[in-house]
Amino acid sequence: MCIQHVQLSWTVMLLLLPGVCSQWRVEYEQQQICALKGSSVLVPCSFYYPSRMKVQSVKWGHGDHIYLGPFMYDSESNNTSPRYQYVGDALHNCSLKIQEVEQSDAGKHAFRFTAGRAGGPVDGYTGSAGSRLEVADLTITVEGTDGDETPKEGDAVKLTCSNQCDVNGLSSFTWWKDGQLVHEGPVLHLSNISYTDSGNYSCSPNAQRRPTSEVIAIDVEYGPKNIWVSVRPSTDVDAGGSFGLVCSSTAKPAVEDYTWFKRGDSEVIVGNGPELNVVDVHLQDGGQYICRVTNKHGRLNSSVVTIKVKAYWPTFTRDALIIAAVATLTVTVTILFITRRCCKRKTRAPRIIRETERVEDAENAIYLPVFANVQSEAEGSTTEIVYAALDFNQKKSNMQQQADIEEDEDDDGVIYSTVLKKPAYMKQK
Ligand SMILES: *[C@@H]1O[C@H](CO)[C@@H](O)[C@H](O)[C@H]1NC(C)=O
Ligand SMILES: *[C@@H]1O[C@H](CO)[C@@H](O)[C@H](O)[C@H]1NC(C)=O
Ligand SMILES: *[C@@H]1O[C@H](CO)[C@@H](O)[C@H](O)[C@H]1NC(C)=O
Ligand SMILES: *[C@@H]1O[C@H](CO)[C@@H](O)[C@H](O)[C@H]1NC(C)=O
Ligand SMILES: *[C@@H]1O[C@H](CO)[C@@H](O)[C@H](O)[C@H]1NC(C)=O
Repeated sequence: MCIQHVQLSWTVMLLLLPGVCSQWRVEYEQQQICALKGSSVLVPCSFYYPSRMKVQSVKWGHGDHIYLGPFMYDSESNNTSPRYQYVGDALHNCSLKIQEVEQSDAGKHAFRFTAGRAGGPVDGYTGSAGSRLEVADLTITVEGTDGDETPKEGDAVKLTCSNQCDVNGLSSFTWWKDGQLVHEGPVLHLSNISYTDSGNYSCSPNAQRRPTSEVIAIDVEYGPKNIWVSVRPSTDVDAGGSFGLVCSSTAKPAVEDYTWFKRGDSEVIVGNGPELNVVDVHLQDGGQYICRVTNKHGRLNSSVVTIKVKAYWPTFTRDALIIAAVATLTVTVTILFITRRCCKRKTRAPRIIRETERVEDAENAIYLPVFANVQSEAEGSTTEIVYAALDFNQKKSNMQQQADIEEDEDDDGVIYSTVLKKPAYMKQK
């Protein structure tokens, strides 16, 4: 294989072939190298050339470009990939380090160098066997869930990070959850999982590198939680008005069934669906309401919401009531007043006895003249003396009473005088 690279005459070549081949050569430690995507990989390499020669340049080619370039690394060019680092030297170590291996790095990588004696011609040689690079992804295997079943709260899940390369010594796996480092080591155990464990999991070859594996989404399912009921407009409702209740809860999968209960002597289902609207509220619509939510992992009751319905009178009824109340009061007061007036007259007014009347107990009666204006239609006003008798049988200590009968129209024109019983002359009659 060295023949094509070394220009020698056939005779010299035949004579020196073993020596020449041992003088120009490149040795690759590994024909096959498996590298994880995103990791860095060392391609170990050694090279040999005739003594007293000096190495002029070193290059690494990839794929079809191992003889003429363009090269992935070239000591004679500034314009090569920064991911390719020559970690060898200008003597015999031609190792190459490839950083952040990409899928496009797969394939054969070969070393080429030029060397010559001082002042002499410079020859080049390519170690065309090369090292073949295989680029692998990290894969994650999930255990603990049966088939397609998504994990639910309380389950245990085991995630294992592995690589197709089966690279020896690659034990420093790092686990990531939503971009945060969560664990180091090839296996991630999640036990008694809760919804907080939901996330996108991936692994990488080490903690310094971002995740390079496939991404496993873990979506932990759970029964309803965080239930709350909102009331609009408020828990105090006027009869005839309306109110609405809205039930909310977090659940995975989403709540499948909403049931509204009203507590009374017995519980009754008053509605389904996330909202309960009650219009034209009656007094009996007041009470305790509960929302119950259900998904396939469980059900949950809300706390009790108490609706109070206030009796409400329409305006016209209220006015009618006020008028009725005022009327009743007026009538009552009038009746009381009249009753009082009539009784007062009975107790306070002396009995008037016309002279024409016979007085039974003449001893206790006095007759006295009073002037009365008797209205006569024909002759006009005339004055005549009329006697009136006052009966003192009624128990009165003080007869100084004003007979307030002016308003009494039955006693037309009679003038009453203040009379004291005591004076003796009055008894002469
Ligand atoms: C590489 O760059 C340096 C400075 O940037 C320059 O001096 C040198 O000539 C360049 N070499 C090549 C081969 O382009
Ligand atoms: C070549 O150099 C690399 C990096 O310095 C080193 O890891 C490797 O062991 C060396 N190879 C030999 C054969 O000495
Ligand atoms: C699982 O977690 C829940 C809440 O995080 C806790 O109440 C329960 O006791 C745990 N069960 C076990 C077996 O650890
Ligand atoms: C997980 O990845 C999916 C798909 O890229 C994305 O839609 C989702 O938001 C991610 N979840 C989290 C918690 O980042
Ligand atoms: C939820 O509420 C319903 C109706 O009030 C009742 O029958 C049921 O027992 C309650 N369940 C729980 C777990 O409290």
